[in-house]
Amino acid sequence: MNQLAEHLVQGFSQTPKTLSSKYFYDAAGSRLFQQIMSLPEYYPTRTELGIFQEQGAAIGQALAAGAASGQPLAVVELGAGDGLKTKLLLRELLAQPVALTYVPVDISPSAIEELTSSLQQELPGLTTEPLVAEYGEALTALAAQPGAKAVLFLGSNIGNFAPAEQLDFLRNLARPLTPADRLLVGFDLRKDPRRIRAAYDDAQGITAEFNFNLLRRLNAEAGTDFRLEDWQHFPDYDPATGAMRSWLVSRRAQTVRVAEPAGQTFEIAAWEAIQTESSFKFTLPQITGLAAGAGLRVVQVFQDAAGDFADVVLAVAG
Ligand code: AVI
Repeated sequence: MNQLAEHLVQGFSQTPKTLSSKYFYDAAGSRLFQQIMSLPEYYPTRTELGIFQEQGAAIGQALAAGAASGQPLAVVELGAGDGLKTKLLLRELLAQPVALTYVPVDISPSAIEELTSSLQQELPGLTTEPLVAEYGEALTALAAQPGAKAVLFLGSNIGNFAPAEQLDFLRNLARPLTPADRLLVGFDLRKDPRRIRAAYDDAQGITAEFNFNLLRRLNAEAGTDFRLEDWQHFPDYDPATGAMRSWLVSRRAQTVRVAEPAGQTFEIAAWEAIQTESSFKFTLPQITGLAAGAGLRVVQVFQDAAGDFADVVLAVAG
């Protein structure tokens, strides 16, 4: 059974049924996510970009603080995507007196290919070591980097983990770091719940397509027979916990078949919901607590004027 079919069988045996959002990002899903990032309702990308445009020089200095003049600095970015925002920081870092290497890591081969060719054109002097990998493998690559490191985990990707996983993830990230290394993590902050929900329920229906793409991918790669017209994209936000969740809700009772293991079927009740994504939203005290739990300290917080988003520089607690 392939990995995706295995994931489906495992996820559909839970209550509620779940599918991991990491499977959103095939070539079509990565393209849809790029469209999401420029939607009027989807504020996080624009807001983080604004923080980098306005405070990029200070962020660059904070990230390079541990690298002595002329010494190597490896900037490792987990979930690099199209690198639009990072290019701003890389320009700032190229102005610092360090020997810079950029290691973009992404699960999507198409995203890494496009990023690599755009970097060659836009920042030809930059040494780049791209890596198509999941986060676990990226951590191994991180540990192998010589010299000072700055690890980027932007766009509130951290919010796609459940709270216990956020802590584990930061702990694992902190392990190979020395006190001179820096981590820059982007956190989407709590705000008007209606604005948050609208960011995941855009008027053009691109986020719905992004969610449905998971079913398209399962049909293509796991031999399922999902009929997209039988499903509804449904986002909900819980302002008490900061949990923004995306669901696929079945419009009717139906049976879904999986090719492997041969003929396995799943019964889905009318209006049963499959959870496909969590995008947690944070408070600043929560971020400080999360960092402390992972053995990290907050070095500096960069925010937009409205307080919608925070890019937080972290270091291992000495
Ligand atoms: C990649 N990640 C941080 C996005 C988010 O906001 O959770 C993915 C996304 N899902 C729907 N819209 C955007």
